[in-house]
Amino acid sequence: MNILAAVDSRATRRTFLKTSTAAAAGVTLVSTALGAEPVHVGGSDELKIGLIGCGGRGSGAVVDALSADPHTKLIAVGDAFADVAKRSLANLKGSQFAPRVDVPDERVFSGFDAYKQVIDSGVDVVILAETPHFRPLHLQYAIDKGKHVFAEKPVAVDPAGIRSVLASCAQAKEKNLAVVSGLCYRYHKPKMEIVQQIHDGAVGDIVTMHTSYNTGGLWHRGRQPNWSEMEYQIRNWLYFTWLSGDFICEQHVHSLDKMAWAMKDQTPLKVSSVGGRQQRTDAKYGNVYDHFCSVFTYPTGVKMFSFCRQQSGCDTDVNDYVMGTKGTADLMQAKITGEKEWKFSGRAGNMYRDEHVELFRSIREGAPINNGQYMANSTMLAIMARMSAYSGKDVTWDEAMKSGLDLSPKKYEWGELTTLPVAIPGVS
Ligand SMILES: NC(=O)c1ccc[n+]([C@@H]2O[C@H](COP(=O)([O-])OP(=O)(O)OC[C@H]3O[C@@H](n4cnc5c(N)ncnc54)[C@H](O)[C@@H]3O)[C@@H](O)[C@H]2O)c1
Repeated sequence: MNILAAVDSRATRRTFLKTSTAAAAGVTLVSTALGAEPVHVGGSDELKIGLIGCGGRGSGAVVDALSADPHTKLIAVGDAFADVAKRSLANLKGSQFAPRVDVPDERVFSGFDAYKQVIDSGVDVVILAETPHFRPLHLQYAIDKGKHVFAEKPVAVDPAGIRSVLASCAQAKEKNLAVVSGLCYRYHKPKMEIVQQIHDGAVGDIVTMHTSYNTGGLWHRGRQPNWSEMEYQIRNWLYFTWLSGDFICEQHVHSLDKMAWAMKDQTPLKVSSVGGRQQRTDAKYGNVYDHFCSVFTYPTGVKMFSFCRQQSGCDTDVNDYVMGTKGTADLMQAKITGEKEWKFSGRAGNMYRDEHVELFRSIREGAPINNGQYMANSTMLAIMARMSAYSGKDVTWDEAMKSGLDLSPKKYEWGELTTLPVAIPGVS
């Protein structure tokens, strides 16, 4: 399968390009032939990267970006917390990429406005790897300012955020800006091939799908006496629904995205979910659940059964199956059984790096990738399932898309913060 099939919007035009980046720099790049390296016509073809959210994934994404394209450099970083930004930068400066880490102290930003400062510091490409709640706001500012974006998953935590992301991505298309999603399996060659097999009919008509992300617990960063409640929650963002969207959104979105991809991104009619918390009963776990089970119903009658659990001491099960009239596709094993036997046999590649390879290639070729629609839709699958589990009610796609649910606090400032109680289905 060609990489083009993995992206939802990519023009075939590969001749002249004038991205806002290139235009701003007075640069014109010309690609002479399909697949050829663009010819540099004037100015510098170096792309400057800014990082927003300097935690584990953000720092890793910078390494992926720098290794994906030799003509890139990191010029600015920002995090809610100065200590995190400085630590990430020190690690990057100690890495093999140090010569392409050009971040003086004046381009290390912290606080709630760090995103604006990074975006306004002369970058071409922004990596958004902050806590999910802030992604819609930061994406909107980046697109407003004409920047290409790599956006980690999930892209929002509530319907208000989803609508904002969709609007920003529509604007990105108009401005010829790239928006590449961190839903990395879409850039993993075994998954790309097996999904193409499914689309080509290898399992026949899809009847049902089964996906699970059952794993152990994750980190907790504790509490320091000098931290305000806002600081405590953002440092421990996994456990607060307004920040992470709950773990169905933060982690299981990968699984839901693979199922959505198999369904050619058709949206479901409705979801019916159950969930709760059995291990995470301590107050330090904020208000998130530790297990969800959801049934999505599609207009064609297809059902998708989805499970996720974060409980230590239990079995791990991270798998996705698509069952059709002629066979079953096992996505994680990249294997099909049934009337047509098939197994992936190529080189898997590194999906984290490959998504950046495609991002930069698309920018240089003047046909920027825009993953906006699917990254928003797949995130919405997780949000609507959470809404259903929390409420104990079925939630239709249309209801979710129109929902006024907006989990934002009244203001972003380091101080007190009220936390919603753990949702009790049928009650809260
Ligand atoms: N694609 C993948 O496989 C993958 C893997 C891991 C994480 N992720 C995603 O990457 C994102 C970051 O995860 P992580 O594991 O690096 O978490 P992390 O806690 O290590 O990093 C997140 C950082 O964002 C910062 N932050 C919070 N609010 C901010 C704001 N308003 N402005 C700037 N910075 C802010 C935090 O201080 C923190 O340092 C999450 O959305 C997560 O789901 C994706």
